[in-house]
Amino acid sequence: MAVRDAGSLLVGLLVLFHTWGAWAAVEVNMEDRVEVFRGETASIACMFTSSEGIGAMIIQWFYVTRGGERQNIYYQDATTKIVARGTPFTDRISVNGTGATGDVVLTISNVQLQDELEFICLIGSVTGEAGEGRTKLRVFETPDLPTIESVQTGISVSEDSLSKIGTCEVKNGFPKPNITWYRNNTPLRTAQDVVKVVPSITSESSGLFSVKSELSMKVVKEDKDDVFYCEVTYFVPGGTRMTETNRVNITVYYPSTAVSIWVESPKGKIKEGDSIELHCRGNGNTPSSIISIKHTKTDQTWEGNVLVLRNVTRLNTGDYTCTSMDTDTFEEITDYTTVFVNYLKPAVVIPENTTVVVQGDELKATCNALSPLQTHTAWFKDGVEVSTGHTLILQDATFDTAGAYVCVVTVPEIEGMETRKTLVVQVQGPPEIMEKDHTEMEQIFEKTVELSCHARGFPAPSITWTTSDGKVLKTASQEDTEEGVQSVVTIKVDSDITAFCNASNEHGTAAVTFNIKAITHTTTPATTTTTTTTSNPISSTTVKAQTANPPEKVKKEGSGVIIAVIIICILLLAILGSVLYFLYKKGKICGRSGKQDLTKEKSNKDNIVVEMKSDNTEEAVLLGVNGEKQPPSDQSGEYLDVQK
Ligand SMILES: *[C@@H]1O[C@H](CO)[C@@H](O)[C@H](O)[C@H]1NC(C)=O
Ligand SMILES: *[C@@H]1O[C@H](CO)[C@@H](O)[C@H](O)[C@H]1NC(C)=O
Ligand SMILES: *[C@@H]1O[C@H](CO)[C@@H](O)[C@H](O)[C@H]1NC(C)=O
Repeated sequence: MAVRDAGSLLVGLLVLFHTWGAWAAVEVNMEDRVEVFRGETASIACMFTSSEGIGAMIIQWFYVTRGGERQNIYYQDATTKIVARGTPFTDRISVNGTGATGDVVLTISNVQLQDELEFICLIGSVTGEAGEGRTKLRVFETPDLPTIESVQTGISVSEDSLSKIGTCEVKNGFPKPNITWYRNNTPLRTAQDVVKVVPSITSESSGLFSVKSELSMKVVKEDKDDVFYCEVTYFVPGGTRMTETNRVNITVYYPSTAVSIWVESPKGKIKEGDSIELHCRGNGNTPSSIISIKHTKTDQTWEGNVLVLRNVTRLNTGDYTCTSMDTDTFEEITDYTTVFVNYLKPAVVIPENTTVVVQGDELKATCNALSPLQTHTAWFKDGVEVSTGHTLILQDATFDTAGAYVCVVTVPEIEGMETRKTLVVQVQGPPEIMEKDHTEMEQIFEKTVELSCHARGFPAPSITWTTSDGKVLKTASQEDTEEGVQSVVTIKVDSDITAFCNASNEHGTAAVTFNIKAITHTTTPATTTTTTTTSNPISSTTVKAQTANPPEKVKKEGSGVIIAVIIICILLLAILGSVLYFLYKKGKICGRSGKQDLTKEKSNKDNIVVEMKSDNTEEAVLLGVNGEKQPPSDQSGEYLDVQK
């Protein structure tokens, strides 16, 4: 009802105006505002009615200058359409509709920020009646993406005033965008002594707005985990839009309320020679504190929160104190840890180094190495474990007992912790000949033999070589072996030899006897004077050496018998010859058969003549009949074998 009353009142007023003035009879309707992005085209509609009907209306468009005056930009009547010259809209506007339909539209292309004005549509009738309407043009520009920058330096909680957190900026928006700060999704508003947001607006030469916002806060320790960002809100045609910056955080410095020190490495027990790494850390985050580590026992101090001690010894054992001092407040907080360096002192063996035990006696040795940890002791001989425990007992010592005993002390708990010491045990006793083989041997005359004698005993035996005829032989070489002494002599075999190796020390004597039988290897060719032949591949040096010696017994006997037989034959032949000659001279019994027998016998027996060339020469020279050498082919099968 109220609306209807108001309507009738308005009609009444119009009627009143109609009677007073001509223009009141035209009614114009327009939108309050038209909103467009910059650069787009704006359409401003103007609808009208007239009590006289609509036709042949005069249509005019104006804008309101910043000074409040109206400036014509367009005129249209039944016959003409005029765009006013020299206005900012001259080239950009057009109006469609003739007015006959009761509406016209002003179109503005490429809308600029400066176009944000009020536009008037004035409709006049030919009778002089007129009406007008107004529309505001709103222009928008979407701003650039916003940016955020947080302070890179750490912020101390002990700051008295507010500390700057960061700045957000959004550029080139229209109209002015708004910036809102958020901390962990909660918007921040300026609050006395706690939060301060200071915006600043820049009007760019383009007419666009850039907005900056700086956030300052009273920072507390909890803010170290806070995330900050900005939200930007801006208007667009028909509403608002929002964008956000990325998230940033800040470094908050706050003092430690406690420190802790610990051994970072090694994990587990520490032994001498290890490298220790001690770490110290406070529960605060502060560059303004000085951390130092001190070895309480020695007062040695190191700066820094990490301490590396290389090749530690038991002297490094003790408490290590870490102190953190705040350089702002000079407050100190400390913590300590105890380091224990385990050790294993060198093994001590009693008796030391070398000991002597009499054959058959018992030896007792001990081995100890000091350590705060449980140790394990074992004795080794030639790499074989012979005893476990500190004490080594060797009963009924023999030469085989002698040797190096290594005591090895280990700490089972810590790998690689070990000490070892060697004890050399010598067993006292009379000499003992080690090898008694090869005591019977044969050797060719004039060759040499090497006799070796290996004797053990303690003290080391002295070795002498003698022969059965009491001659002392010169030792060719003598060397100390692991067990005893090895002595070597070289003897030239000129007859059968018996040699003794006597080893003796203060406890007794041992001897070994060597029997060398002298032998010979040689042959004599049957009928040659110059060629020396041997049936065995004995070297010529051997044979030559033998020429200087008297012939062997066997050979002497062999050749002697043959020579005797031959001489007897010759004598018999001579006697026979003499008898036959005598008979022939007598002319009595010279028969055919007798003559034939003689020749036959002669040819059979006289074709080999053996002659001893000289005394002491074993080479029997075989001569042919009448002293001629016989060709070698005839000699086959006729060698004189003088060998046994
Ligand atoms: C910006 O803030 C002002 C003041 O609070 C407010 O009037 C305006 O509407 C805001 N603008 C946007 C785009 O939210
Ligand atoms: C905040 O800082 C921490 C460490 O300084 C980092 O790991 C994390 O990614 C940061 N967060 C943001 C949103 O920047
Ligand atoms: C060496 O030993 C032999 C055999 O036991 C002995 O006859 C000889 O007298 C000893 N000689 C020496 C020098 O001891």
